[in-house]
Amino acid sequence: MKKLLTALKRFAAVGAAALAIASLQPLSSAQAAPSPVVGGTRATQGEFPFMVRLSMGCGGALYTQQIVLTAAHCVSGTGANTSITATAGVVDLQSTTGRVQVKSTYVYRAPGYNGNGKDWALIKLASPITTQSTLKIATTTQYNTGTFTIAGWGSASEGGAQQRYLLKATVPFVSDATCRTYSGYSGLVASDEICAGYAAGGTDTCQGDSGGPMFRRDASNAWIQVGIVSWGIGCARANAPGVYSEVSTFASAIASAAATL
Ligand code: ARG
Repeated sequence: MKKLLTALKRFAAVGAAALAIASLQPLSSAQAAPSPVVGGTRATQGEFPFMVRLSMGCGGALYTQQIVLTAAHCVSGTGANTSITATAGVVDLQSTTGRVQVKSTYVYRAPGYNGNGKDWALIKLASPITTQSTLKIATTTQYNTGTFTIAGWGSASEGGAQQRYLLKATVPFVSDATCRTYSGYSGLVASDEICAGYAAGGTDTCQGDSGGPMFRRDASNAWIQVGIVSWGIGCARANAPGVYSEVSTFASAIASAAATL
């Protein structure tokens, strides 16, 4: 089943089912238009200073000034890579005021990534982005609950266009046990993935939001990243939550890998 899903994702073909699953893919290859945050509102300039737009049509967050944390499914593998441009410092991608654009030098994709969990990757930038702040990541499970903020430039509706302005929304935590009961979610990798969304749908990440952070406030009221946009069945459908990489699970692997970049 997972193989079939993966194949469908890869060759995002026709029909409602394929379209729904295609929503799991980044914007890179030719396919139905991606979808960013559904049910969101515009973020204000500077509200989420760690947000990054990646040129392959994904989101990301500044883990350090020179390393972006994104999704494994947004990149092609580990190695030297100068093909990605990261844009930061603006909510309006077309605004040149405060906009910083830096090329990648190297990509580190989670070892063992095969489309089933482990959906994280690091992108090393050619130079540090000194005008923006970084987003700390959760290193324990204590923040893997509550209400989360999601943000991105992806589609604002399933199959809709990528967005010029950064959109944001909030979504509630969904337990692994509940998430698994939904159609299409039985393969959830509980240790690696965390679900969020309303049973009624209406608010979600979507195509082009992949790789972006899902975050909340910590005990010190600082933003902390608990998830990475990974996949979902369609976008914002009822009984079809968004699935996010569970950052706390990978926190030490992320830190170790980042230290080598
Ligand atoms: N994989 C998608 C992307 O590449 C993100 C899908 C998120 N879908 C969802 N229903 N939350 O942008």
